[in-house]
Amino acid sequence: MKEMLALFGNDVFSTPKPERLIHTLLHIATNPNDLVLDSFAGSGTTGAVAHKMRRRWIMIELGEHCHTHIIPRLKKVIDGEDKGGITEAAAWKGGGGFRYFALAPSLITMDKYSQAVINKEYNAVMLTQAMCKLMGFTYAPSDSVYWQQGHSTETDFIYVTTQTLDQAQLAALSEEVGDNRSLLICCSAFRGKAEAFPNLTLRKIPRAVLTKCEWGHDDYSLNVQNLPLAEEEQVDIPTPRKLKAKAKAKAKSSEPSLFGGDDE
Ligand SMILES: C[S@@+](CC[C@H](N)C(=O)[O-])C[C@H]1O[C@@H](n2cnc3c(N)ncnc32)[C@H](O)[C@@H]1O
Repeated sequence: MKEMLALFGNDVFSTPKPERLIHTLLHIATNPNDLVLDSFAGSGTTGAVAHKMRRRWIMIELGEHCHTHIIPRLKKVIDGEDKGGITEAAAWKGGGGFRYFALAPSLITMDKYSQAVINKEYNAVMLTQAMCKLMGFTYAPSDSVYWQQGHSTETDFIYVTTQTLDQAQLAALSEEVGDNRSLLICCSAFRGKAEAFPNLTLRKIPRAVLTKCEWGHDDYSLNVQNLPLAEEEQVDIPTPRKLKAKAKAKAKSSEPSLFGGDDE
């Protein structure tokens, strides 16, 4: 509380943690230059202590005190103006810096029919930047070629549009792209056979976004990419109950999905 009063006057959090406590924890658990994550940053004590202890840090905060507390506090730490907390114990004199990012609004929202749609707050540039990021492309719009909005290699490009593309438009794009280049097209919808154009890959927005992200879980801790390997191969003996459940699951998976099945 005293540390908070020294930094912010009367405007303090009700349950601030002393810098010394975080110092002890980071001393036990981390080494200089390690990365410390505080995804509920509050008044920024963890980041301030990590900084003074020469650890790198990431803090996340949704409250306005990000601007009223965390940023001014870390600036003081960097400028060597925060003399309190563990400054003396860590022989901290100032230095370093940080970058600050504000999250964009959600790219996908639900319309009144509970259908996933592109958020109206997104303009064309924001949408293209977001799709480049999600699909692994560098956003780099060409001045002269409208469909070259980003690239993943020198010959692989991305084109994002909210239009519905028909067969004739796809054929024209395919011809322009030619044999030695490839193009990922992210559009609202397309009419025509995607496989007719080997140099084009077609993805629908928002479907392409939804398949890249996880939504609506109570618990995001299960990372399916890093599942532990089974120790022994298990032999699955089909019992009548299992066979019934399998048939039920198969019937369910063949039901048409919300966004149609003509892309991933
Ligand atoms: C008790 S404080 C955490 C204190 C902090 N870890 C420290 O080092 O002093 C919890 C903070 O989490 C923030 N918070 C709650 N939900 C959040 C969310 N979904 N994303 C980011 N911050 C969140 C609250 O605004 C609040 O400031």
